Amino acid sequence: MLDFTFTEEQKMLRDVARKFTDNEVRPFAAMIDEKEELPFEIITKAAELGFLGVVFPEQYGGGGFGEIGYCILLEEIARGCNSTAVTIGGHESLGAMAIYLCGNEEQKQKYLRPLAEGKLLAAFALTEPNAGSDAASMKTFATENGKSFLLNGNKTFITNGNIADVLVVFAVTDASKGVKGITAFIVEKKWNGFRAGKPEKKMGIRGSHTTDLFFENLEVPKENILGEIGNGFKVAMETLDVARVSLAAQCLGSSKEMLELSVKHANERKQFGKPIAEQQAIQFMLAEMASEIYQAESIIYRTAWMIDNNITCSRESAICKLVATETVCKIADRAMQIHGGMGYMREYPIERLYRDARVNRIFEGTNEIQHIVIARDVLKNGI
Ligand code: CAA
Repeated sequence: MLDFTFTEEQKMLRDVARKFTDNEVRPFAAMIDEKEELPFEIITKAAELGFLGVVFPEQYGGGGFGEIGYCILLEEIARGCNSTAVTIGGHESLGAMAIYLCGNEEQKQKYLRPLAEGKLLAAFALTEPNAGSDAASMKTFATENGKSFLLNGNKTFITNGNIADVLVVFAVTDASKGVKGITAFIVEKKWNGFRAGKPEKKMGIRGSHTTDLFFENLEVPKENILGEIGNGFKVAMETLDVARVSLAAQCLGSSKEMLELSVKHANERKQFGKPIAEQQAIQFMLAEMASEIYQAESIIYRTAWMIDNNITCSRESAICKLVATETVCKIADRAMQIHGGMGYMREYPIERLYRDARVNRIFEGTNEIQHIVIARDVLKNGI
């Protein structure tokens, strides 16, 4: 039987996340953007509520809510502040998720548990200055050295790069094997040879930290290999398959926020002697926004359900990422149009939400890469 309703537990999680967002996140979003700094108390409070491990099973210190619960959470938080949602995403959707999906039992107890409990923060270090969309062309190198590997190289645009305690780092261990010569490692920031750069100055999501990382003869014990030697690219791809769905949920939250603000503004703003909501041009924009939100919402929760039921969903997750990120940008544009000159002013949240939206079509795989993933799957497996 098809059942599209949330369980009582999921509704409770949504209510707690909404209250947290209303009281602890949204009121500070403009300040976070202005100062380009996320007060760490917000992350501490999120950790206390169990939000940093909602997606993971209870046996690893998580909330046991799975991907559906996690999408509910990120959707709510993104309604209040995209920088906060991205910081949680870099930790939970990417860094900790890679350990959950590909780590052995010992690694999960040692690293995933404190990450899920919110005692430590994670990051995912894949991108390099010359290896963005073509992730397999990375140059960071790990050389075998007795019981460990020596890591050398650098990463760029890493979310949480300078605040993460634990980082999943991808490096070449055998250059002759191409994509099968890449290995994933769990790295602790306190180890010698690790350095993070300064946070980048960004257009949007300015409160989330995005930094370079540098590794200089950083010694990683062999027990910190994540997955198998030479299997690192698969670790990255499998993690991104899951992460792209929760990123889509973030975009969904931001889209809903902008629709709500637009409805409010359209009802309050009077021109030609009546609220602009009575103008058909405005109504059409609101109708398009609502329709696009419904489409994104439907595929996101369906794909989250697939993840929770261990159904492979590379194509579906790429579709979620593509649809929801294009949606949030279109909605930001219409929301700005409905708000008119006021929307363009920093005094109103639309200006920030518009800037925040744009990166979603770029990170976690550009939308051009999503087209490639979808097309390859269609050509290989049919519709
Ligand atoms: N799951 C498991 N394995 C997968 C996979 C998946 N989803 N996708 C590919 N693979 C495997 C393939 O099966 C293949 O292995 P076999 O030869 O054994 O079959 C191997 O990986 C290589 O695959 P491809 O030939 O498809 O590799 P490619 O070099 O053509 O690249 C790509 C594929 C999809 C373009 C990939 O490079 C990609 O996704 N690029 C985008 C990178 C990206 O998303 N970066 C975002 C960084 S994270 C970020 O932005 C977070 C942040 O901080 C905000």
